[in-house]
Amino acid sequence: MAGKIPEHFIQEVLARTDLVELIDARVPLKRSGTNYTARCPFHNEKTPSFSVSQQKQFYYCFGCGARGTAISFLMEFERLSFPEAIEALAASLNLPVPRESAGERNLIDPAESLGPLYEVNEKAATLYQRQLKSHMAAASAVDYLKKRGVTGEVAFRYRLGFAPPGNLNLPSDWPKVLLKGAGLIGEKEPGRHHAWFRDRIMFPIRDRRGRIVGFGGRVIGDGQPKYLNSPETPIFHKHREVYGLFELLEAVRKPDYILVVEGYMDVIGLGQHGLLNAVATLGTATSTEQVGLLFRYTSHIVFCFDGDAAGQRAAWKALESSVAHVREGRQIRFLMLPEGHDPDSLIREEGLEVFRGRVDEAMPFSDYFFQHLSLGLDLRAIEGRAALAGKARPLLERMAPGIFRELLEERLREETGVGAAYQNDSSFTGVMRASRANKGLGQPSAFRTFFALLVQHPEWVEHMDSGQVSTLGRIHAQGPLLMRVVEFLHEHPHIHAGGLLEGFRESAEGEIISKLIAWDTQVNSGALEEAFLDHLRHLTEKSHRESRLDALIEKSKHETLSDQEREELRSLTAID
Ligand code: UTP
Ligand code: MN
Repeated sequence: MAGKIPEHFIQEVLARTDLVELIDARVPLKRSGTNYTARCPFHNEKTPSFSVSQQKQFYYCFGCGARGTAISFLMEFERLSFPEAIEALAASLNLPVPRESAGERNLIDPAESLGPLYEVNEKAATLYQRQLKSHMAAASAVDYLKKRGVTGEVAFRYRLGFAPPGNLNLPSDWPKVLLKGAGLIGEKEPGRHHAWFRDRIMFPIRDRRGRIVGFGGRVIGDGQPKYLNSPETPIFHKHREVYGLFELLEAVRKPDYILVVEGYMDVIGLGQHGLLNAVATLGTATSTEQVGLLFRYTSHIVFCFDGDAAGQRAAWKALESSVAHVREGRQIRFLMLPEGHDPDSLIREEGLEVFRGRVDEAMPFSDYFFQHLSLGLDLRAIEGRAALAGKARPLLERMAPGIFRELLEERLREETGVGAAYQNDSSFTGVMRASRANKGLGQPSAFRTFFALLVQHPEWVEHMDSGQVSTLGRIHAQGPLLMRVVEFLHEHPHIHAGGLLEGFRESAEGEIISKLIAWDTQVNSGALEEAFLDHLRHLTEKSHRESRLDALIEKSKHETLSDQEREELRSLTAID
């Protein structure tokens, strides 16, 4: 097994790569001010909202939120793994990739330790596929699939398979640790293993890169549970994956919409009838991660649910998981099916064209939003209107500021007459680009602006002395992160924003840092450094005042303050 790629090498590759050149060779860029733009390669759009900064070595899409460095770009655009992306970059620089030897390695590279889990899943899928064709117990599974109209071609596309009955239905020479790690066997008591999937039709679940992360298994005919999923494993998180996305993207690189349905067999049945745009959640409510994932590949999601009460609940849950992702340029719609039908049965009954007609007429987000919230309310009465406003408000507040949210707020005012209170001072209005870039970080504070300026211009770390760093680090919620960033910048002089971001790859901190890099500080480009120094001075003074204030308040709880201290307290509380 190859060793881990050393951190310094990753930084070297990044320092010597030019992101603008790298992207331009794949997606032609146009210069626009200090940045470069193009139509986003990660979602469908008519006007360019994809922006590349040479200075930051960072790209960002205002439409779909895709963002990152040269490494992330190659991973997403060419669907490479992290080490593959580095190898590709190194190859274009003619650099051999060094690997740390096992002895030197003190950290386990997660991608590497997980590799064998993907491999064992892959082997199992191949075995299940072969068994569907040739195992003597597979006859009823094959009959069942035929009865449901599944052709060999579709079974091949989705890699359907068969797990035979019996507790020992996997080769005994496959390492138990791996089988257990991948959730293919369970262990009720130590040492007593059983196959997780027995006598089931197998549906491999693939991630965006086609790696098998888990399985769903359906009983043949009746039986309980009807569907069984792999347990959660280091590579399988039900609420982060959707079934059928890889297969969809193989068929349609940039789908103009994605239909989200509830069942594995719905995806397959729709695919069978020529509707290749469907994916399914994995037996759980639609999660906000799933919605975010889908918006990386399309700008239009249609949720499709059964018309019964459970379907209604699931639809509303999907809406709640979507609010954080709605914005102009994106569409979300809801398709409620007639009771007693699911997508599979319906398309089979009425055919592709009629079913497509239903998709075309699905209900827009805004209509469903107000329709659902108004259920059971009398909007002619003040009480009803107030209740509607009260229910809508928390959802609206979770939406990114911008035109879409403003339109919903306006409609709420029309429907309820409740105005100003809900119009909460949107200082973003009119600066759409900024507000979109700044999504998810809330209102800008001086600290955030300062932090953003720092990560966007890592060389300015020179302006901070260690006293300032620790003062700021103590006071602010993001202080500890600031301290780690400063430390990293001291260890890696001369890096750009992209290099900094790669130092925090795959961590919650990286997520925050990438938002800060994308953040539009709205500081005049000629006065950036001055603004940085101003903020630094103010924030440090403010932090000093706050610590002093805390100390005085604390003291006053136990003893009487002197006149001088009381005066100081008064002056400290008077500020701002
Ligand atoms: P359905 O029962 O609607 O599935 O459950 P389906 O795909 O329409 O089933 P058939 O094959 O046509 O009868 C929808 C989804 O809920 C999850 C599965 O992901 C399933 O596809 N589910 C359902 C489970 O995880 N376990 C169950 O026991 C049942
Ligand atoms: Mn069904």
